[in-house]
Amino acid sequence: MSKPRTIVITGGTKGLGRAIANAFLANGDNVWVLSRTVPVTAQSHPRLRHISADVRSREQLDSAVAKIRAASVLIDVWINNAGFGKPVPFHDGDNALWDDIFAVNFWGTVHGTRAALSALRRPGGSIINVASVAGLMAPRGHSAYATAKAAVIALTRANAVEYAEAGVRVNAIAPGPLDTEGFRAAGGDPEKRARTIPTRRMITPDEIASACVFLAAPLASLTGQTLVIDGGSHAIGCYA
Ligand SMILES: NC(=O)c1ccc[n+]([C@@H]2O[C@H](COP(=O)([O-])OP(=O)(O)OC[C@H]3O[C@@H](n4cnc5c(N)ncnc54)[C@H](OP(=O)(O)O)[C@@H]3O)[C@@H](O)[C@H]2O)c1
Repeated sequence: MSKPRTIVITGGTKGLGRAIANAFLANGDNVWVLSRTVPVTAQSHPRLRHISADVRSREQLDSAVAKIRAASVLIDVWINNAGFGKPVPFHDGDNALWDDIFAVNFWGTVHGTRAALSALRRPGGSIINVASVAGLMAPRGHSAYATAKAAVIALTRANAVEYAEAGVRVNAIAPGPLDTEGFRAAGGDPEKRARTIPTRRMITPDEIASACVFLAAPLASLTGQTLVIDGGSHAIGCYA
């Protein structure tokens, strides 16, 4: 059996992040999850640790990485997963909401990536950014979220090129709609949404988690890619 790796997941306590954490734990890895709060229902596992951190703060992510480094480990895989979307009308939209959507989805990815780079194994380290198919298409009413996720996809390519020679890979995942706490909090209706997807089903967090495990495998030339997992919505060109 291969040596356990150190995996860090922002927003790893709920929804997709929790599924990603479980997939790496099942793989035998050591997992650190970062979030602002720990839910009372949080899973416990001997190889799972939590650090409180808000991805909107560069200092908090730097300090989280310092705590991980204090455990004398290098980070093998860093996953920028924390994020949220909320519909906001464009023409009379609230700038504060645009700012927060960018602060978490885009700046959270910038802060996470910068913090990770100081402690990532080189060569061999890997960063995975959770974008969204919304960053490749035009979801009605979601201009802020779509723009922030498009920026995450652009950043993925730029970082992949900048750190390629250092042996650090950077990839993104672009999921279609997932039935998570975040999806429901934004007013999503899974049954209604599933009818708009070519496969007629919601994407499951476990499917995305398996794809993260694949992207984290030692595939030295796999970098700069955005893997779309959306039941065919992008292929058919339809985003409800
Ligand atoms: N659900 C979907 O349909 C869908 C589709 C495509 C892409 N995505 C993307 O997938 C990712 C996860 O979404 P989800 O639906 O799983 O969300 P979720 O159920 O709301 O879970 C979000 C996680 O992120 C943490 N988080 C939120 N804001 C944070 C902050 N400022 N700093 C640190 N942690 C923070 C939350 O914990 P705390 O609240 O305690 O901080 C929680 O652990 C996001 O990037 C989202 O954009 C989701």
